Amino acid sequence: MESIQSIKQRFGIIGNSHALNRAIEKAMQVSPTDISVLVTGESGVGKESIPKIIHQLSHRKHGKYIAVNCGAIPEGTIDSELFGHEKGAFTGATATRSGYFEVADGGTIFLDEVGELPLTTQVRLLRVLENGEFIKVGSSKVQKTNVRIVAATNVNMFEAIKKEKFREDLYYRLSTVDINLPPLRERQEDIHILFRKFASDFALKYKMPTIKLTDDAIQLLLKYRWSGNIRQLRNVAEQVSVLEQNRTINATTLHGYLPSGSNLPAVINSTKSESDFSSEREILYKVLFDMKADLNDLKKLTMELMKSGNANDVKKNNETLIQKIYGENESDTEFEEHIEDMEVLSIPQNANNTSAITDNAADKYHFAEEIEEEETLSLHDKELELIKKSLERHNGKRKLAAEELGISERTLYRKIKQFDL
Ligand SMILES: Nc1ncnc2c1ncn2[C@@H]1O[C@H](COP(=O)(O)OP(=O)(O)OP(=O)(O)O)[C@@H](O)[C@H]1O
Ligand SMILES: [Mg+2]
Repeated sequence: MESIQSIKQRFGIIGNSHALNRAIEKAMQVSPTDISVLVTGESGVGKESIPKIIHQLSHRKHGKYIAVNCGAIPEGTIDSELFGHEKGAFTGATATRSGYFEVADGGTIFLDEVGELPLTTQVRLLRVLENGEFIKVGSSKVQKTNVRIVAATNVNMFEAIKKEKFREDLYYRLSTVDINLPPLRERQEDIHILFRKFASDFALKYKMPTIKLTDDAIQLLLKYRWSGNIRQLRNVAEQVSVLEQNRTINATTLHGYLPSGSNLPAVINSTKSESDFSSEREILYKVLFDMKADLNDLKKLTMELMKSGNANDVKKNNETLIQKIYGENESDTEFEEHIEDMEVLSIPQNANNTSAITDNAADKYHFAEEIEEEETLSLHDKELELIKKSLERHNGKRKLAAEELGISERTLYRKIKQFDL
């Protein structure tokens, strides 16, 4: 059997902590079997190397290795991606397609972010795990496959089971062996060596001398929380390597690259990554959206007034809307005053001057439309900018960005598609 050290070399794994060595050793031990393995650990701890090791050291190494990010595939297409579909199974299914479980027959499938699988897909997955059987979407024919499954997750699966988001039977079936990679802060001895390795890689990449840390900077590195784990450490090493003229880095300089907030060693209980959205920016963003909603409500009401020309009717038919816009305690007179202000926009029923005044009204309405377009555009830009920044900050990790933006990963995925990011 290959030694742990040579495996690390082969897969570019740095570090010598007991926890890391134990995880690699476990991967080596289970690789010749077909046992399902669940790799657990926080985001950025290095889970993705484990299924590669397992596949490469197994008798399946000449078969296919397919890594699937379950969190990134929209719910509507995931069954078809994994299990394939028949021609005509749904709109757009112009031909029969093989899914990953068919293609990877004889190989290994790595199901990354397995906790994100929809419940219906979990049922199909359980069947594959139990007897190697699956059915294409839109088919009734049972097919067989021989695939080894390695899954990974950075969410607490027991919580997910408690919230009925993940099937307990599937969890136990997937995690016959659990390989846990502890967070970087619990692998202190690996931190500096990893930083040195990244610093030397980036020096080579950017053709600059390698940065070197002073003793106090090393101490800061070791004390820091690293909630983004090795991914975050690598990002910091890259930023410092590119931006610092003086290649000897002291603690003060390094401190400037370490986001404060939950990452400070003092605030160890919080695991959520801090973002500058928690400040005025987020508030402004929300205010803008609220304003836009109000504007739309007002426009609807104005349209009603223009169409009917009778304020009382409009008032009667739109009580909820009026309350929403003008508040619960709005008196009749106040509403009337608002109506008077708006009267210039109403279209008279009188046929004689309809055309002239309609033009006038249309002009004003057109003006209101332009305002809306500008508003939409600026909000659109803001949203785009926020999403871009968040993705950059998290090195393209949609899960973390979605968390930071307070939206679901699927919504973020849709927005990425919508904005063509
Ligand atoms: N021990 C290590 N040595 C060198 N690089 C590492 C090590 N562990 C992780 N990395 C690097 O850190 C980055 C993050 O690792 P990886 O993608 O495996 O994280 P993860 O645990 O799958 O996180 P997530 O849950 O967010 O998907 C990768 O670029 C990986 O190459
Ligand atoms: Mg991963």
